[in-house]
Amino acid sequence: MSKRQLKLGFILHGVGPGWGDWRHPDADPTASTNIDFYLRQAKLAEQAKFDFLFVADSVHITEKSSPHYLNRFEPLTILSALATATQKIGLVGTLTVSYSEPYTVARQFASLDHISKGRAGWNVVTSWLSGSAENYGKPTHPPHEVRYRIAAEHLETVRGLWDSWEDDALLRDKASGEFFDPSKLHTLNHKGDFFSVRGPLNISRSPQGQPVIFQAGASEDGRNFSARYADAFFTENSSFEASQIYYADIKKRAAAFGRAPERLNVLPALRAIVGRTEEDAERLYKEAVALIRVEDALVALARSFNEHDLTQYPLDGPFPDIAQYGAESNRSSSERIIRIAREENLTLRETALRFASPRREFVGTGVQVADAIQHWFDGGAADGFILFESLPRQLDAFVAEVVPVLQERGLFRREYEHSTLRGNLGLDVPENQNTAARRKAA
Ligand SMILES: Cc1cc2nc3c(=O)[nH]c(=O)nc-3n(C[C@H](O)[C@H](O)[C@H](O)COP(=O)(O)O)c2cc1C
Repeated sequence: MSKRQLKLGFILHGVGPGWGDWRHPDADPTASTNIDFYLRQAKLAEQAKFDFLFVADSVHITEKSSPHYLNRFEPLTILSALATATQKIGLVGTLTVSYSEPYTVARQFASLDHISKGRAGWNVVTSWLSGSAENYGKPTHPPHEVRYRIAAEHLETVRGLWDSWEDDALLRDKASGEFFDPSKLHTLNHKGDFFSVRGPLNISRSPQGQPVIFQAGASEDGRNFSARYADAFFTENSSFEASQIYYADIKKRAAAFGRAPERLNVLPALRAIVGRTEEDAERLYKEAVALIRVEDALVALARSFNEHDLTQYPLDGPFPDIAQYGAESNRSSSERIIRIAREENLTLRETALRFASPRREFVGTGVQVADAIQHWFDGGAADGFILFESLPRQLDAFVAEVVPVLQERGLFRREYEHSTLRGNLGLDVPENQNTAARRKAA
């Protein structure tokens, strides 16, 4: 199959990303901590040949957080459980570099890669909510720019640890009694600005060599970090045109780092609403919008501004001047919100409701949604998508109505090409850096 293929991920989001999703008549309000709910979704996404499942995460809540954030599984734990119930689908989890140690992270993802036989991926995040610091005994949350420096050193350290063992280091020779070849076990001896890690790692190199790296930074520092290290980019753009610009920019940056841009996948967030008919889709869209209360939409909007209290501003007045709260938090998202509010002259209420609502572009019948997906894919705005469920059972609708159309058009696989996530995403297994050094020396 030589034709370029769409990549699809599905976010496991329990009761849903919104504040009101759990109130839908068909929603399972226990979904976020219900393993049976996730098992069903994971198996369905695998039957439809999705590339991967994704579990997002953060490490700080307040009483205003959304129901899913208030009560959810830790990503590596749920992904390990799903690994044993699935065979081919990738398993991608978020873990923050600002509140974790590279040695632990390297072990966790290497373990998941072994458990899943080569399907692990790490969504590297820096955490944008300053309250996270208080859960980890830290006096302050690192500034935006420092977080990306931490991220680079953290990730390089993890990668070094993943190569502690060369691929053929473990001999397990019962006759000679040699368990491993000591010349193929390497100590990292990392001492940097933020981390000090001797190594080696206490788990062998995993089936993918190294788990796949996902990243969603979109600020200047975020893009440079992503372009340098990530194999796939999550993104949230306001329009097809904005996504085209991001797409060209991130691939250009990746090429400047000596990477092959055509191997790297740009995956915008897709909040599709699929109906059997246009009227059905319209009804479902209205159901999704009816779940949004303006007070919740305000809290959702405030997240990009480090949970700044937006109730102090007039709801029907112009969008307030709050850029400084976003710059150190979710920089790119806060900038996008301000830009759109200003360009379209939106009030605070209108802005909050706009960003809490699904986009019209991906609402329709299976064919209409497939058309919109193809438009983005052919038009240089996406290599694939990460699908969010806007309403209960929308994964089922997408699988029944959209996937067959994409397959018919030759845009999406009917069978997995490989059993590893790397293989399905078209990525090579990276050579162990210690083996490469040995080869060069010889
Ligand atoms: C699809 C998608 C998924 C994301 N998942 C997470 C997540 O699980 N945890 C998190 O802290 N941030 C997540 N982010 C946010 C990014 O990690 C990042 O903080 C954000 O894009 C802002 O980047 P910037 O500071 O470079 O502007 C996600 C973003 C996107 C688009």
